Amino acid sequence: MWPFFLERTILTRKRIRGSIAGVCEIVQNTESWCSLHPLVTKIEQDPANPRRYKITDRLHGPMHLWEYDNSFHAVFEPKNDEHDRGVNVSVQLAQSFLFPKLENKLRVMDTEEPGVVEVLETVELRAFCILIPYITSNLTKSHNASMDKLAEKIEGILWLCRYMICSHSMPQKRSQLIHLHNGRLHADMPEALTLVLALFLTLGFIVFFRVASRDPYGLYHLTLNREPGEDPNFTPKTEWLNQGYWKVSPTPFTALALKLVEAAKLKGGDRVLDSDVGHGTGESLIMFLTDPAVPRPSRLTGVTSLTSHYKRSKERVSRVRALNDEAAKVRVDLYHGDAICRSTTPPTHPLHVLNAAKFDVIFALDCAYHFNTRKEFLAQAHRKLTPEGRIVLGDLCFGTDGPPAQKTTLFRTAEIIGLMPKENVVPTREYIQILEELGYTDIVLEDITADVFPGLVNFLCAKGFLWRMYANIIGWYRRIAHIRFVIVTGRKPLI
Ligand SMILES: C[S@@+](CC[C@H](N)C(=O)[O-])C[C@H]1O[C@@H](n2cnc3c(N)ncnc32)[C@H](O)[C@@H]1O
Repeated sequence: MWPFFLERTILTRKRIRGSIAGVCEIVQNTESWCSLHPLVTKIEQDPANPRRYKITDRLHGPMHLWEYDNSFHAVFEPKNDEHDRGVNVSVQLAQSFLFPKLENKLRVMDTEEPGVVEVLETVELRAFCILIPYITSNLTKSHNASMDKLAEKIEGILWLCRYMICSHSMPQKRSQLIHLHNGRLHADMPEALTLVLALFLTLGFIVFFRVASRDPYGLYHLTLNREPGEDPNFTPKTEWLNQGYWKVSPTPFTALALKLVEAAKLKGGDRVLDSDVGHGTGESLIMFLTDPAVPRPSRLTGVTSLTSHYKRSKERVSRVRALNDEAAKVRVDLYHGDAICRSTTPPTHPLHVLNAAKFDVIFALDCAYHFNTRKEFLAQAHRKLTPEGRIVLGDLCFGTDGPPAQKTTLFRTAEIIGLMPKENVVPTREYIQILEELGYTDIVLEDITADVFPGLVNFLCAKGFLWRMYANIIGWYRRIAHIRFVIVTGRKPLI
């Protein structure tokens, strides 16, 4: 056969927070599993053999020049041995002369991390050599996408709803023939209920974020700073309110702040606008005043919009300065208000053109995505930086992958839930472009998503049911919206 027919093996691997039973429930149910597959448009069960299905894929030709439907038969064989859980799929293609073999083996295994399983899909194929690049590219992309959807389903809102539905032990209604039109599944009863519950949950969160609190922050972060076994009646040692840098434990929140300090190349005597504008309840201010790893600034200016945070920061900073001679030498000015200077803002605002203050470093930790707009903040900050002054931000932006239509909805969602104004929903590329247009140089954008979100989600999941629910929802939204956590630095040139 060789070299006319070639064999290939494609491995798709994904770690999912969930159980083997939970994953198998989906992958061993052919309709559920196929509904996650982006190419599948129709599946029909063989009345004579319930394990055999006729599946129709919507495929496109090379360079997306045309689209066509391709049907094939597949036999699904669930595996439920003690150490071998998953499903085997044997495919018979109509074009068996050019594409004689397609076998799929999906296995779900425990990992060394409790509560996390690994799903491994092995596709073995043999095909006419010219077709190999087209087939392997299609299979790799679509199988990766279905794995991602599987993870979303298990870890996201639908997972929570399914859990609730199961607890009501509703009878499962199975359709013998499921049609998918325009990629939408004609839902059976539990799926419809799942959707309704998901909508209620989402609405609940929108109301929570938009109506119950204008600024989504309060003092709940004190609970998250408390170490295991610490007395809940006492305030915790730290009061961070950022998402953490989980490569470094046990102090990931401090580690994220220190990562920004390092990126800012802070020098002793710098005038720092801790425009950690939302410096929360003042932990970063205290870090600048006391942390041995941070060069002491000569002047520290803070801006925050929330009254309770402003008052608490003022009290905490005064206490630290009263007890620490080195901290007492630093001039500290705290401003209560919006990060952005508007036409009605008094000249005491640190970014006001009439305010004589200039800054060597402007520091914004996990907050600039809230500002309306971030671009305006970056422009005002540029005007207030000394020549050679640096801006450093720990910020959120979006990946560039994903279809544009989906992005539009997701962009709206970020705005609706009050996470950020729509103008701030920009991909990494555009973020850099904005800084360049405003006159910043030496721009560096470091994507540290992998060291931020998974660690935060694991941490929240261990904090009880409500936190776990919240973590699952933000984890799911972050993944489908391709949210990235980035450290961004820029410099104002000499002239
Ligand atoms: C995620 S917290 C980060 C807190 C702090 N940087 C830390 O690391 O602990 C975001 C902060 O931004 C503040 N914030 C949101 N919008 C703001 C605005 N327009 N102006 C000033 N602060 C704002 C919030 O009140 C909150 O304190």
